[in-house]
Amino acid sequence: MNNKIIIINGPNLNLLGEREQSQYGSVTFDELKDICLKKSKELGLEVNFSQSNIEGELVNIIQESRNKFDGIIINAAAFTHTSVAIRDALDIFKKPIIELHISNIYKREEFRQKSLISDIVTGGIFGLGSDGYILAIISMQKLLKK
Ligand code: DQA
Repeated sequence: MNNKIIIINGPNLNLLGEREQSQYGSVTFDELKDICLKKSKELGLEVNFSQSNIEGELVNIIQESRNKFDGIIINAAAFTHTSVAIRDALDIFKKPIIELHISNIYKREEFRQKSLISDIVTGGIFGLGSDGYILAIISMQKLLKK
């Protein structure tokens, strides 16, 4: 069955709820995880919710996803703007990928306005707060049904 997805979170997202609430809201990482698990279950998806602050670890997670998951939802956080390694790893994953940002990166500092992954992903969601995760799960389920 085409129903296994992974949600990959990059650096500092483990501190959601504590860091810059004006950008990222008050939902904590654990609360977000619960919300994502619940929504995925409701839609018949099996989900793995992961986070790392380490670039190489994220590359490993993406590489290993090739044989384990049917789709990736990724908030690469700061590595979105800097990591060719994460871009290259995602490019090897030949199944649907959704890029996600809680904040609107195009309304923020200039260095955040460049994503190194946008042109290789299936689609993206940004600026809709942590609700973006729910929207991404719904979209991924539709992509996998096709
Ligand atoms: C972020 C935006 C990035 O620029 C930032 O470094 C983050 C979070 C977002 O979800 O809005 O850590 O990806």
